Amino acid sequence: MVNKKFVMITGSTSGIGFELAKLFANDGYDVAMSGSSDNIYKSAKEIEKLGVEAYPFQADASTYEGVEEFWKFVKSKDRKLDSAVLNVGVSIGGSFLENDLQEELRLIDINITGTVHMAKRVVQDMVPNKDGDILIVSSLSATLPTPYETVYGPSKAFGFMFAEALREELKDTGVNVTAMLPGATNTNFHHNAGMDNTYFGDEKNKNDKELVAQQGYEALKNKLDHVICGDEDTKKEAEKNRTTPEEVKAASHAKKAKPN
Ligand SMILES: NC(=O)c1ccc[n+]([C@@H]2O[C@H](COP(=O)([O-])OP(=O)(O)OC[C@H]3O[C@@H](n4cnc5c(N)ncnc54)[C@H](OP(=O)(O)O)[C@@H]3O)[C@@H](O)[C@H]2O)c1
Repeated sequence: MVNKKFVMITGSTSGIGFELAKLFANDGYDVAMSGSSDNIYKSAKEIEKLGVEAYPFQADASTYEGVEEFWKFVKSKDRKLDSAVLNVGVSIGGSFLENDLQEELRLIDINITGTVHMAKRVVQDMVPNKDGDILIVSSLSATLPTPYETVYGPSKAFGFMFAEALREELKDTGVNVTAMLPGATNTNFHHNAGMDNTYFGDEKNKNDKELVAQQGYEALKNKLDHVICGDEDTKKEAEKNRTTPEEVKAASHAKKAKPN
């Protein structure tokens, strides 16, 4: 077995997952990376420029086989897994009335089913080693209803509470679980969700992905239970969301997410 540290990051072709891969690599971790497109190979080459090994794997995280095959790929490296980042996630903008059911069920497959599936493999691998760090990428959307992304917010609320529950269960095992809750961030995410014609389509309304990733990384290293990622306004919004009625938060999100 190799002595260098080893991390796996789902959904690390681009965006927050790729920024996290850079941070781990800068700390000397070798990185197993997954994505659904063949750009994952190019992204892995970028990570290798930082002086570590990067292992790309192309698989669809919306399917049981896609999740399982990435896990088998990680295990095939015959390395102790020090950290796991369950980052892959998608949203769908637009009205629930009109959106395609299959697309919404696919979102649940990626954001919820796939997260549970990969967490099972990771936890059962790390606990016998009595060591490991798991970062689950949730969202500020976990703290409010998200009309016009109606299925997305609840899928992230699942991730947040799942992480907190798992953390408590594992607290005496040596395995740490941290949830990361970014506010809107300047990645391909909203474009991919078909939300260019909304408040979230405008880059100036979003946090910097490097800052967001850095805050998530530091929270994991400090073994925090969760962290809100973004600028001061994002942190204030999260604080306010703790006491604002759901109906009020829903109306506010609707204004931002409703297509113009
Ligand atoms: N951006 C935001 O405003 C924001 C805010 C809060 C939370 N988040 C969360 O942050 C996480 C990362 O999002 P991001 O902003 O970095 O989005 P992104 O730029 O769209 O990146 C998504 C990543 O997931 C991969 N991916 C997408 N569908 C996949 C699939 N079916 N199978 C395997 N990989 C897939 C993509 O790679 P390929 O292109 O190769 O498929 C890409 O690496 C998500 O969980 C999201 O919910 C984002």
